[in-house]
Amino acid sequence: MTELLSDLVRSMPKAELHMHIEGSLEPELIFTLAERNGVTLPYASVEDLRRAYAFTDLQSFLDIYYAGASVLQTERDFYDMTWAYLERAHADNVLHTEIFFDPQTHTERGIGFPVVISGIHRALTDARKQWGISASLILCFLRHLSEADAFATLEMAMPHRDKFIGVGLDSSERGNPPEKFERVFARCRELGLRLVAHAGEEGPPEYIYTALDKLHVERIDHGVRCLEDPVLTARLAREQVALTVCPLSNIKLRVFDRIHDHNILELLDAGIAATVNSDDPAYFGGYVNDNYVALFESLPLTRDHAYRLARNSFAAAFLDEETKAGYLRQVDDYFATA
Ligand code: ADE
Ligand code: ZN
Repeated sequence: MTELLSDLVRSMPKAELHMHIEGSLEPELIFTLAERNGVTLPYASVEDLRRAYAFTDLQSFLDIYYAGASVLQTERDFYDMTWAYLERAHADNVLHTEIFFDPQTHTERGIGFPVVISGIHRALTDARKQWGISASLILCFLRHLSEADAFATLEMAMPHRDKFIGVGLDSSERGNPPEKFERVFARCRELGLRLVAHAGEEGPPEYIYTALDKLHVERIDHGVRCLEDPVLTARLAREQVALTVCPLSNIKLRVFDRIHDHNILELLDAGIAATVNSDDPAYFGGYVNDNYVALFESLPLTRDHAYRLARNSFAAAFLDEETKAGYLRQVDDYFATA
């Protein structure tokens, strides 16, 4: 890759559509918050904790990720974590971001839902004031828990309906198919919430079908295993269902062996509306620009692919048509002069 192409993808305007805020908690901040809240960590140092980030699959990551989130206790903690991510996103030329949060990870530990959402939301408001970055929240249900737990979470969330735009489905995929949450997603749909779900990360293509046909999601998070099924691949392309792909995550969690083996180019060549995102940047070795640069350094991606990825990121965003058109014009202007 030429130096120019890496500069181009770093500086281009972009949206991020798949980032778990708890996955942006850097080891340094985990230690700061542990000290602030009198929590004793089972790690001697930041380096010691970072050394534990050697994952073999999704579950081995999730175990550490939920343990890390246990230092979050006050509204200020949630604010500080979110602010730190937004600073990184702004530095990466992210103009719009749709952020996942996992309330059950916190309410199960006795932290109030209002504490969680107020701290995160206040940071979004401040970042919009300071940099003009637009940001929305997507509440994720933990799929290893029951649908009844998801309904209880939705009930807790509804008094704060103005602070989030949609719901998603994350955590342990295998053995927890989308249809386990069919009724709660139907209710969310009635409530006018936007719908997404993780599917086809570790789970089979079948989970992508059921996310679409039983949950009626509008985007698929990950979805990279769709290529195992040509009929599904053709459908995703025809219906322009966006995939929020997370390349460094896929390597760390061993979905692909090496970044050179990543299938983003095949997805784009198949006509799929793929986007590039960071997933859990503090755990997987980088923020969104690190993901773009890793791909462009390792695969024969071109300037035209960069243009398509930037456009896809805004086209797939949950924005009103006028705002979306404004961002797409910014992408076009950037590529016209860069
Ligand atoms: N929670 C945080 N990151 C996740 C991922 N990549 N897959 C499923 N659940 C998650
Ligand atoms: Zn994810």
